[in-house]
Amino acid sequence: MLQKIYDWVDERLDITPLWRDVADHEVPEHVNPAHHFSAFVYCFGGLTFFITVIQILSGMFLTMYYVPDIVNAWESVYYLQNEVAFGVIVRGMHHWGASLVIVMMFLHTLRVFFQGAYKKPRELNWVVGVLIFFVMLGLGFTGYLLPWDMKALFATKVGIEIAMTIPVVGPIAKTFLAGGEIIGAQTLTRFFAIHVFFLPAALLGLMGAHFLMIRKQGISGPL
Ligand code: HEM
Repeated sequence: MLQKIYDWVDERLDITPLWRDVADHEVPEHVNPAHHFSAFVYCFGGLTFFITVIQILSGMFLTMYYVPDIVNAWESVYYLQNEVAFGVIVRGMHHWGASLVIVMMFLHTLRVFFQGAYKKPRELNWVVGVLIFFVMLGLGFTGYLLPWDMKALFATKVGIEIAMTIPVVGPIAKTFLAGGEIIGAQTLTRFFAIHVFFLPAALLGLMGAHFLMIRKQGISGPL
């Protein structure tokens, strides 16, 4: 049945060469942990991607119940956590995944750094990686405010005060982040928009560039 659907589409759009180019190629021996156990370090990028997918999917389900305004935000999270079927699991996945994805990304960056995989011709992919790093930290920072409890409020206050200490652009950064003088209604809607639209869109574009470059250049090594 699936083969029939594939053949039908292939006859019309000639997808086989495209598919072969993207996915049908041998994994080099030096990145395969079945051959050398120490090659497990090459899995960190893929694991980062796997958790990123979990974050996107669980986040999409969270937005079905989350209400991004200061009157209802906390209660909508409480309801999601305690009343909605599987809500505690979906929120738990997003909560723990947010930390795990940073850990994995960090391990991946260490692997790339200590193997010198950022060197010519992969400099551009390192630069894209650094941008991804900042986007990920931004997702963590903006997501933390959304439950709108005391921890969220004061953590964001600390974060914004750190941004304020940047020479010259500090006050502008504060106004940009808080949307006004205090952390309030404007800040919450702003963080919500940044968390669910702006940064994920940037992340998808950057990850696309990251993978295209890996596919084009191949994986580095063996050492
Ligand atoms: C969402 C975050 C990221 C994902 C999903 C991701 C994914 C991947 C994957 C799957 C690979 C193939 C090899 C491997 O897994 O080790 C890779 C390679 C690479 N990554 Fe990332 N990455 C991320 C973040 C970063 C960051 C933060 C940096 C550096 C600042 C970076 C720099 C590189 C470089 C230079 C390569 C080529 C390495 C080589 O050819 O040996 N990546 N990435």
